[in-house]
Amino acid sequence: METATLLIQRGVPGEDGRWDRFTVTYEPGQSVLDGVRLVRSTQDASVAVRYSCINANACKECMILIDGKVGYACTTRLEPREMRLQPLPNKILVRDLVTEIAAPDERLTVSGDQ
Ligand code: FES
Repeated sequence: METATLLIQRGVPGEDGRWDRFTVTYEPGQSVLDGVRLVRSTQDASVAVRYSCINANACKECMILIDGKVGYACTTRLEPREMRLQPLPNKILVRDLVTEIAAPDERLTVSGDQ
């Protein structure tokens, strides 16, 4: 049985980040997002990742750094090797792989926030 290893950058703003390594079963045709969802369902449900359409490349919410290059987790193929996943570097980090992607004037604010 082949496996894929996902090295995922974890953390929240204001804390030291860390890397967690997860190994999942690999089947040809799976996406990186499939691998992260498998991690969440079988190993660590606290891994934060944003997605909506799952594999249509329509919502654009799953954009992350994959091996140092910007890509959509739902359309990038999982490979039977170690793959390094990070949040987008030019966006505000929310947690783990999730960054703030809404335009500033479209963000919800708490009363008193600017
Ligand atoms: S989950 Fe919608 S584009 Fe990737």
